Amino acid sequence: MAATRLLELADVEELTDLLRQNREFLRPWDPVRPDEFFTEAAQLDIARAALAAHDGGTMVPLVILTRAGGLAGRLNLNGIVRGALQSAAMGYWVAEAENGAGLATAAVAEAVDLAAGSLGLHRVQAETLVHNTASQRVLAKNGFSQFGVAPKYLKIAGEWQDHLMFQRILEP
Ligand SMILES: CC(C)(COP(=O)(O)OP(=O)(O)OC[C@H]1O[C@@H](n2cnc3c(N)ncnc32)[C@H](O)[C@@H]1OP(=O)(O)O)[C@@H](O)C(=O)NCCC(=O)NCCS
Repeated sequence: MAATRLLELADVEELTDLLRQNREFLRPWDPVRPDEFFTEAAQLDIARAALAAHDGGTMVPLVILTRAGGLAGRLNLNGIVRGALQSAAMGYWVAEAENGAGLATAAVAEAVDLAAGSLGLHRVQAETLVHNTASQRVLAKNGFSQFGVAPKYLKIAGEWQDHLMFQRILEP
């Protein structure tokens, strides 16, 4: 059973429920989300924009699946850049109730295969908050290595926070 598949508009209702259930869990790791973010209308707009970006070749929006095939979270390959860089920036989350079952690790493995395979990219980048040891473990298990520290890199939970930068070079 695959750990991921492409996001579909039909996922939006279940995904919105999952986001509502995990609002407090995700709060320390996400940008500040207005109440409107947790509505189906907003999630539909976000999904439509993501699928349009996918059509344009700049993004791959995936859902992360439970072993039974339900929705467990999301993984994006964002900002796909071609030319001399050939890179994507990866972000992901897994619902609290599904944590610790290896779902993020399996999803990242599939995203890396996609990036190296049909996307033909040279590298995948990911960044974590300095104290996000679970995410760092997911990346380490998938062969990512740290290449730097970016001061005040992303505004997470309302604060510009330092991030550890990771990458996996996809060529042998
Ligand atoms: C980080 C996250 C994606 C992990 O999802 P998951 O499905 O539980 O991940 P996995 O089960 O594949 O692997 C988690 C690993 O981290 C380890 N881990 C979990 N919590 C940990 C902690 N507090 N300290 C150290 N390691 C931890 C687990 O033991 C496991 O490693 P192991 O297989 O060697 O035992 C999930 O917790 C999440 O969505 N967090 C909030 C959002 C987020 O941080 N996204 C990533 C932003 S960079």
